[in-house]
Amino acid sequence: MAGLIPQDFIDDLIARADIVEVVGRRVQLKKAGREFKACCPFHDEKTPSFTVSPGKGFYHCFGCGAHGTAIGFLMEFDHMSFVEAIESLAALMGVDVPRSESDKPARRYDELFSLLDAIARHWQDCLTDSPAAVEYVRIRGIDGSTAKRFGIGYAPDGWSNILDKFGQSPEATQRLLATGMIIEKDNGKHYDRFRDRIMFPIRDARGRTIGFGGRTLGDGEPKYLNSPETVLFHKGRELYGLYEARQALRNIEQLVVVEGYMDVVALARHGIDFAVATLGTATTSDHLNRLFRLTENVCFAFDGDRAGRKAAWRALENALPQIREGRQIRFMFLPEGHDPDSYVNELGTDAFLNALDEGVALSEFLIQELASQVDMSTVDGRARLAELARPLVNKIPPGVYRELLIESLGESVGLTAAKLERMLGADKSSGPSASPARGLDNRRSSKPVTGQPSVIRHAITLLLNDPAACLRLDVEKLAGVNRPGVDLLRTLIETVQSEPNITTAGLLERWRHDAEGRHLGKLVASEVPLDEDFDAATELGDCLVQLETAGRKERIKFLIEKQRVSGLSDEEKAELQELLKAA
Ligand code: UTP
Ligand code: MN
Repeated sequence: MAGLIPQDFIDDLIARADIVEVVGRRVQLKKAGREFKACCPFHDEKTPSFTVSPGKGFYHCFGCGAHGTAIGFLMEFDHMSFVEAIESLAALMGVDVPRSESDKPARRYDELFSLLDAIARHWQDCLTDSPAAVEYVRIRGIDGSTAKRFGIGYAPDGWSNILDKFGQSPEATQRLLATGMIIEKDNGKHYDRFRDRIMFPIRDARGRTIGFGGRTLGDGEPKYLNSPETVLFHKGRELYGLYEARQALRNIEQLVVVEGYMDVVALARHGIDFAVATLGTATTSDHLNRLFRLTENVCFAFDGDRAGRKAAWRALENALPQIREGRQIRFMFLPEGHDPDSYVNELGTDAFLNALDEGVALSEFLIQELASQVDMSTVDGRARLAELARPLVNKIPPGVYRELLIESLGESVGLTAAKLERMLGADKSSGPSASPARGLDNRRSSKPVTGQPSVIRHAITLLLNDPAACLRLDVEKLAGVNRPGVDLLRTLIETVQSEPNITTAGLLERWRHDAEGRHLGKLVASEVPLDEDFDAATELGDCLVQLETAGRKERIKFLIEKQRVSGLSDEEKAELQELLKAA
């Protein structure tokens, strides 16, 4: 979607935009040295931890981790789409947004939103008209006002109800396709995606319908059918029920993450308005970031069976990097055979709230689970537990929480926190060049790289914070390096070298739509020495030399191993000789 607005226009806009003005119009900023500070607009706080850096064109909250560029700020704060944010920035600066095509994406999105809205309303009417659907909703314990609040509807059986009603012109058909409401056959004909299903509209933060989940009334397959990924709908980001929770509550003290649409609706029906569901996927860190903008307390609800504990463990792993002081992450387990829907319907609101109270803290769950995998009565078992905990603890950002967790772990395994800390950090000292590259020899080098940030990560962080520092680097040094992230580093360097005026914010916006680059913002927000005499260019140069040396060593190792196993070609022999000479 960004393709429609020329990239160089976006680069330029971002470079010129004054983030202090953009944020300052919406949040009261105070100058503090080179930066500006405020109480964070994305979470509740009394002392300011939200900073805006005019130099980098970047904002960051040390409390909740929110961060981004002027474009990102408009998207989050004003709930704009990417294109809307660009248009708003451009308007502020009095320039017109050029289009490579006559197409106006912003208007197109508006049309998609109103189409989905109209369909949602249509399906609500269909529900009232269908005795079978009304009966199903009644049997599931959903009353009229809850159904209305969630906009629950019914898509009648038939292959072309939606197509006939909403797809009268080629453009209209195109919009139905773009929103996933119809499916195209090989012969170019179309048919309705949702047929004979109870429909749950999925809404964005502004309450606009962006997709649907549809449940069969009987036991057809699949039980739930969801909208596909579309320009409006991204499963990994959206949470069902979040809009409705915000509507119902003025102050969100906590949010409970459940698995299903029905769980959210049933809990709401019983007055528990603070449940949200991921849409058939594991909880992602995008999800968690959204949740923690609204509240400090998040509890995951899972079934008590094996599958539930497994899902809970996955949620725990994804949550570790999001842990901050003040954030509370808990896990509640329901008795086997129950999900929140069945539990609250059978046992009532108080029973559910009690079960919620009995939820365990993340640290407790982590230690419990690990302890169940080893024999805690032996020294070996306890050492093994520390070993198992290492990669997990290392995912938690340094801080009080991590210290406390290490302390409790120490108590469980009978070690002092200091000793355990040393054990946990044991593989840090081996340093980046000693760890084998992945990809060269997949069978032997699968040891995960944990602990200290890698050289590549460090280099990317330096570069993002001070793009000009890489202008003189020789990317060819990276030629022999074969480890995760090196391609990203290389492209970043090449981008800055071909656009020497690009800013931190400009780089982030270039990678906004890139899976690998989406996380770059976090690196900008992470610690970099700020003192005046810190020389990022020299440090970056050092990183490249380190990587080059590591790459060479890895190549030597690889060639020697190959020589032993299968012999080398003449070319490879010459290469090895060269490498050994240089080493
Ligand atoms: P469950 O199978 O646990 O269903 O799926 P449920 O929520 O208890 O549904 P009811 O009570 O039988 O109506 C949990 C979630 O997983 C996704 C949906 O988001 C669902 O809410 N799911 C499940 C699918 O996307 N497709 C499926 O076929 C099944
Ligand atoms: Mn259920």
